[in-house]
Amino acid sequence: MSLIINGIAVPAPVDPRVSLLDHLRETLHLTGTKKGCNQGACGACTVLADGERILSCLALAVQYDGRSITTIEGLAQDDALHPLQAAFIEHDGFQCGYCTPGQICSAIGMAAEARRGVPSHVTTDLTADVTLSRAEVQERMSGNLCRCGAYNGIVEAIRSTVAAEVAA
Ligand code: FES
Ligand code: FES
Repeated sequence: MSLIINGIAVPAPVDPRVSLLDHLRETLHLTGTKKGCNQGACGACTVLADGERILSCLALAVQYDGRSITTIEGLAQDDALHPLQAAFIEHDGFQCGYCTPGQICSAIGMAAEARRGVPSHVTTDLTADVTLSRAEVQERMSGNLCRCGAYNGIVEAIRSTVAAEVAA
């Protein structure tokens, strides 16, 4: 059994009880993915599985046999930050940075959901293409908590990059 982590095949853990989060952090030493609550409530552990955002603390690593997992370490290309990473810096989207990897992975998955037309709780017209207004971004990112309260910068960073691409 193996998982594809940031484009590289790695063995799945022998112990089927190991969470994807612990496998990333403890075995593969990809510590960009953070452990906050370890029970699905904070979003700090968000990664992308075949482009969909998941909470790696609630996932068993063996469940993702053969799947492609992207962590924060896999977003930069050719030594250049992903545009959303750069936007977080530009818009002051973090203070301590603990929630940031999860925020960024979640926002990329969130934009993909919007592009597929997935509605949120605040979507009013279910027949129209989804556009990511400020209210839509706030609602769709509500599963990612920031104890530093950097929410204004987080929303601006998202709206200036991946959300703008959806609306275009
Ligand atoms: S550590 Fe996974 S949701 Fe909090
Ligand atoms: S920047 Fe500190 S928790 Fe979000």
